[in-house]
Amino acid sequence: MEVTIALRLPRDAASVSVTRQILGAELEVLGVERHIKEDIQLMLTEACSNVIRHATETDEYTVSAQLIADRFVMTVVDTGTGFDPDKVGIRSPLAEHGRGLQIMRALADDVRFMNRPKHGVIVCLEKTLRFTHDSPGDLLTAP
Ligand SMILES: Nc1ncnc2c1ncn2[C@@H]1O[C@H](COP(=O)(O)OP(=O)(O)OP(=O)(O)O)[C@@H](O)[C@H]1O
Ligand SMILES: [Mg+2]
Repeated sequence: MEVTIALRLPRDAASVSVTRQILGAELEVLGVERHIKEDIQLMLTEACSNVIRHATETDEYTVSAQLIADRFVMTVVDTGTGFDPDKVGIRSPLAEHGRGLQIMRALADDVRFMNRPKHGVIVCLEKTLRFTHDSPGDLLTAP
């Protein structure tokens, strides 16, 4: 089974919760285990919040999510000025701000930040899904 969802959104804070809820509903319908769904929602929130906060030169951004069997691949693309992820320092786990990249790295099975200087950032996040027993996702992705 494959499912693709693509969103083009204004760079407005309200878009973050819309994205979280649309993709959360997809994962819920399929029966993805709750803690995996919540990890995905949190990493997406961090990636989208970064666009809202930091990619100030862009009016719109896109979020896409592709489910292929048990793999869930998300991309968040902005057209701001970009940044170099290797130059972002590690923050204390107790810090109140500046932990977005660390949270994404901790929760995703794979994460890539593709910096396109002056053309924005592509954040690519991957997570392997697990479905609850006999859920639609469990039945439809069975080998
Ligand atoms: N999409 C982006 N465009 C431009 N710069 C970005 C983008 N995403 C992250 N950054 C840069 O990377 C830094 C680290 O991001 P991170 O999410 O870890 O922390 P933060 O956004 O500053 O704080 P927090 O996520 O806790 O609100 C940001 O301060 C910003 O300079
Ligand atoms: Mg952030």
